[in-house]
Amino acid sequence: VPTSNIRNFCIIAHIDHGKSTLADKLLQMTGTVQRREMKEQFLDNMDLERERGITIKLQAARMRFIYENKPYCLNLIDTPGHVDFSYEVSRSLAACEGALLVVDASQGVEAQTLANVYLALENNLEIIPVLNKIDLPGAEPSRVSQEIEEVVGLDCSNAIHCSAKEGIGISEILSAIVQRIPPPLDTAERPLRALIFDSYYDAYRGVIVYFRVIDGTIKKGDRIVFMASDKDYFADEIGVLSPSQLQADELYAGEVGYLSASIRSVADARVGDTITHYSRRAEQSLPGYKQATPMVFCGLFPVDADQFPELRDALEKLQLNDAALEFEAESSSAMGFGFRCGFLGLLHMEIVQERLEREYNLTLITTAPSVVYRVNCINGDTVECSNPSVLPEAGKRRSIEEPFVKIEMLTPKDYIGPLMELAQSRRGEFKEMKFITENRASITYILPLAEMVGDFFDQLKSRSKGYASMDYSFVGYNESDLIKLDILINGDIVDPLATIVHKEKAYTVGRALTQKLKELIPRQLFKVPIQASIGAKVIASEALSAMRKDVLAKCYGGDITRKKKLLKKQAEGKKRMKAIGKVDVPQEAFMAVLKLE
Ligand code: GTP
Repeated sequence: VPTSNIRNFCIIAHIDHGKSTLADKLLQMTGTVQRREMKEQFLDNMDLERERGITIKLQAARMRFIYENKPYCLNLIDTPGHVDFSYEVSRSLAACEGALLVVDASQGVEAQTLANVYLALENNLEIIPVLNKIDLPGAEPSRVSQEIEEVVGLDCSNAIHCSAKEGIGISEILSAIVQRIPPPLDTAERPLRALIFDSYYDAYRGVIVYFRVIDGTIKKGDRIVFMASDKDYFADEIGVLSPSQLQADELYAGEVGYLSASIRSVADARVGDTITHYSRRAEQSLPGYKQATPMVFCGLFPVDADQFPELRDALEKLQLNDAALEFEAESSSAMGFGFRCGFLGLLHMEIVQERLEREYNLTLITTAPSVVYRVNCINGDTVECSNPSVLPEAGKRRSIEEPFVKIEMLTPKDYIGPLMELAQSRRGEFKEMKFITENRASITYILPLAEMVGDFFDQLKSRSKGYASMDYSFVGYNESDLIKLDILINGDIVDPLATIVHKEKAYTVGRALTQKLKELIPRQLFKVPIQASIGAKVIASEALSAMRKDVLAKCYGGDITRKKKLLKKQAEGKKRMKAIGKVDVPQEAFMAVLKLE
């Protein structure tokens, strides 16, 4: 089809508002995938994604659509739905001319949606509002339309009412895509510039790169250069996504496709990088490329020390497919050998952990996540520290800086109070509150990232009965009055339990943490003191009393199944224990600091 008959679009939606269901319906309706070959939700094809019902990796699909007797080619580029991946979202938006803004008509606009709409507006995308789930009895499309108009300033007079589930409004959406979203510019004559919006590692073919041709054309066999990594390759295979890969000989400005070129790691073909020709190089790369910077770090230690080499292998393999994952070997007197790993955020961290355990069969102990501190030393050096246990000692440091984020919470007005209390209890500095509609407010705070890592999101959800949503972005580093809190078990410092806390919170945290550890660590055959200290000064102390462990004593009579059950339960409990000195410490203890309230 000619460039004027191409439309590139993405779907912006809050989790659960129906993006995948709608995408599937669009694919079905255009005959892109037959009903029988549809797996539930075609676009999210990682198992983990499907299980968690969230979109992690981007995918794309080309659809054929006949409108007023003319053939059109519609490229849907999927976007991940979580704030950890907002950079990926911004790159996939940059590959499109338009976006469907899908809002659940029984709910309303959420914080993350808003953030993505602003990103889309910055990228000059044409936005088509779609009110989904109108089949629900609680749907209020006119209220939600008004909300979108007020909050986003987007004209909703021609918003499409749809039920992705029931298949209502789907053909209106397809027509609107053709009518309202502008075609790509026809710049096929210019030197090649293609934007990478996703890449993944395939064990047989190496890295598969998903891209949008912005300028020029790319042919099979072309010698290409990735401008940010400055590496060059031959494009062995190129093609389109329909949504399965279909080989093609040439792709023109405006088109979306994939290529493989024996690239060995996704780090060499990063999202946001520009592909150009080796012999006819574009003068400037496309704007917006950013290096991924991990914001959250934690230690990963195999429960069984023999699994250390396997853990290294697994991390190396995952890294081939995940340019944002960082790791380096770490050894701890308490934990033995493991890795210090860096992640974009907490969700990213959980995904990696889960994959390591599930796909690589490892049993791991994860230590509490930490942010990256900047320590200004007395000798003038500034060191970055993402591991509390190796924080330069008090006598050597002049000050500590920590990362701050701006968070925006959207909430029904009933929960404003509880959410403000939450933010304030996390050292939040109030910035502003706006009523976006009569019943919903937007509250903005600046707070330390360290206070958000952990249960902030869970707290937000539970204090608002699930109705509030949030978005955050990094604003910069600032000095805080921070100190290191050590934990001693049985008289020994347990370095993975060390945390960095604000001075004013040290005593409360110390007390709460020792109490929590007392609950979590199973009683041993001897008395175990649990202490919190700042330097040499013990500020809180608890003791785990000795116990003779005889679980079977609880069993009455000869009920063998019950006995077996108990033994099995105990064995499972054992699995995730790390012997520290003579004391077995369970996984939960390492995360205790995150759950002190
Ligand atoms: P993420 O992948 O997490 O971003 O979620 P999503 O936005 O893709 O939502 P998904 O399509 O998975 O839909 C979420 C839930 O809403 C599912 O249980 C769907 O069956 C349901 N759903 C989607 N569209 C409709 C609709 O039009 N009507 C009703 N009643 N339910 C819908």
